[in-house]
Order: sequence, then structure tokens, then C-alpha cells
Amino acid sequence: MKAIELTEPSLDAFRPVVLPDPVPGPGEVLIRLRAATLNYLDIAIAIGNFPVPRFPLIPVADGAGEVAVVGTNVSAFKAGDRVIPHFMPRWQGGPISPANVAGMRGISLPGSLAEYVVMPETGIVALPSHLDFAQGAALPIAGTTAWNAVRSAELRPGSTVVILGTGGVSIFALQFAKASGATAIVTSSSDEKLERAKQLGADLLVNYRSTPEWDDQVLRLTDGRGADLVVDTVGEATFARSLKAAAFGGTVFTVGFLTGTAASIDLFSIIGKALKVVGNNTGSVADLTEAARAITAQRIAPVLGQTFDVAETSVAFSRFAAGGQHFGKIAIVQ
Ligand SMILES: NC(=O)c1ccc[n+]([C@@H]2O[C@H](COP(=O)([O-])OP(=O)(O)OC[C@H]3O[C@@H](n4cnc5c(N)ncnc54)[C@H](OP(=O)(O)O)[C@@H]3O)[C@@H](O)[C@H]2O)c1
Repeated sequence: MKAIELTEPSLDAFRPVVLPDPVPGPGEVLIRLRAATLNYLDIAIAIGNFPVPRFPLIPVADGAGEVAVVGTNVSAFKAGDRVIPHFMPRWQGGPISPANVAGMRGISLPGSLAEYVVMPETGIVALPSHLDFAQGAALPIAGTTAWNAVRSAELRPGSTVVILGTGGVSIFALQFAKASGATAIVTSSSDEKLERAKQLGADLLVNYRSTPEWDDQVLRLTDGRGADLVVDTVGEATFARSLKAAAFGGTVFTVGFLTGTAASIDLFSIIGKALKVVGNNTGSVADLTEAARAITAQRIAPVLGQTFDVAETSVAFSRFAAGGQHFGKIAIVQ
């Protein structure tokens, strides 16, 4: 099969290769991959900011395709089914554990920039019928994470959620927040992106470049109350402000490390308002299944800012790595 390998941690180290076709064993399926989408995690690996067991590796955690061959003892899927392989297929459900996170696609397991991948049937989820392969490939990390974010705060009509930036996780969080009936406040560095977020249902908009004290602006926009949920996809640069923007008893859902992880905070902002600070590491197959069900029920269309051919992998990675150049997800099709 044709594949792309990343030979070392460098944005210039993608090389096309031909590898033996993988063969499914008992309980496994062979998937013909059709699309992948990028997450910041893929970039972090390609620039040496995330440890991996070894190079070369087949990069990109998230993908989608169709079942080509089923192994023996496979009951849930058949050839031709459109499917999404999960990022951490060993994590079936329940709480996170070291065993659950031991196998990660694009890191310790083969990623999505290959014609074929073998997966256990327990590690794949049906692709919602209203989505194409590239849209479906957006679900495993970004979709699942955003789903877990809105569930962490039990959003409902009347809730307020703050969403930082307009990247992959944030746009899914906006779509799920609106599906929950919540009021969504979106921040961005770009007025044009804020306008696009408004088209997707964002109620209140804050440009964090022209309003660096965006947390104060959130308090003004909520009559001093603050937000029930702040989805912090950024990390060090925003975490202290996220705590300030949250309402008493609110939730700060912390997933991002775009700007580093060494945040300096005043603990009293957590103690005094009795905040819930919820960490998250993507999610389980069960979480992805639930997210896909919600996406189907609400006819949510994942937002693809740009789509590249697999031959343009380096360009796609560089575009993402430049930061702030995209809206929603970047897809790679093959
Ligand atoms: N732990 C988990 O479960 C989990 C899962 C998925 C992702 N993540 C992490 O979450 C982060 C976001 O991932 P992603 O894939 O959504 O990335 P992404 O698509 O690159 O989105 C990043 C966006 O963040 C915004 N941003 C950057 N600096 C900002 C700042 N100082 N203040 C506010 N917004 C800022 C920008 O939005 P504008 O261009 O609109 O300004 C940018 O487009 C990454 O660190 C990723 O590793 C964690």
C-alpha cells in the first residue's frame, strides 16, 4: 500500500513509501482510508513537542474510510461500511487508565496517511450517514473532546459557554453548545472568523486581540455572572483568565497546550467560586459513539476550513503549524 511516513520530528520529513498491505486477524477489519484531519497533536509530534516511541511513523491520528475486508469473528461491520477508526481503540469506555491510552493512532499505532489500516472492530464507529469521509475524519479527537466538554457542564437552555478561538475543538464545541440550547460566547483573533462563528450560531463575540481582557468582557456580557462553562483550548496564555470568566460553581474544561502548560494562577479564584476544573484526554470509543449519535441527531456538519490532497501533506501541516490560519478543521484526502 501507499503511505506517508514521518521520518523524524520535522515539518520537512514526510516521505511517500510503499509498505506491505496489512492483513486483518480475528476480530479485526481492514479499512481503506479515504480522509484524515489534523489536530494540534499531529503538529506537536511533527515539530518534536510530543514524545513518540520511534520514527518513522505513519502520521495523523484521525481518519475515516470504508471497510475493505473483515477478519474472522467480526460481527458488527461488513465490507463497504463507512467507518471512523478511534484514536485510542483500547479505551472502550469508563474512566481513563494507563492501559486505555497505551495505543494511540499516529503515535504508537499506525496513523491515517496510508491507504489501509487494520483495526479491532471494537475500535471503530459507524460514520454518520449525512457526512462525507473528510467530515467524518474530524470526529475522533476534536468532536469527542468537544462533546465531553459540553457534557462536563451539563449545558442546557439558559447556560452560557465561552469558547476560545475558532480551531477544530472550539468549532465543534460551538455546534454542540448551540445544540444544547446554550448561549455561546466565542473569542478569536480575527473579526472575519468571529463573523463566521456567528453564522454557525455564536451569540456573542469577543476579539481577544483588541480586547485582551476578554475575561472582563465575558463578565460584562453576562451581567457580572460569568460563564457556566469555559472550554480552554489554549493553555498557559488563557487559563488564569478562563478561571476569572467562569461563574460561581462553573466548569473550566482544560484541554489545550497551544501556548504551553505552566500557567500561573491564583488558587483563590478556584476556591472562592467553587469552580470545577476538569481535565480531559480526548475520550473513549463510547464517548465517540455518543458524539456521533448527537451529530447525527442534530445534523451537525463538521466545519472543514481547508482540504488538501495527500500529496500536499507538508503544505497542510505547515498551514496548521503557522497558527491561526485556519477555521475549524484541516482535512487531507486520499
Ligand atoms: N486534551 C484533549 O482532550 C485535547 C483534545 C483535542 C485537542 N486538544 C488540544 O487543544 C488545543 C486546540 O486544539 P485544536 O486542534 O482545536 O487546535 P487548532 O485547530 O489549531 O485551534 C487553535 C485555535 O486557538 C486559537 N488561539 C490560539 N491562541 C489563542 C489565545 N491566546 N487566545 C485565544 N485563542 C487562541 C486560535 O483561534 P483564532 O484563529 O480564532 O484566534 C487558533 O485557531 C491544542 O493544544 C490541542 O492539543 C486537547
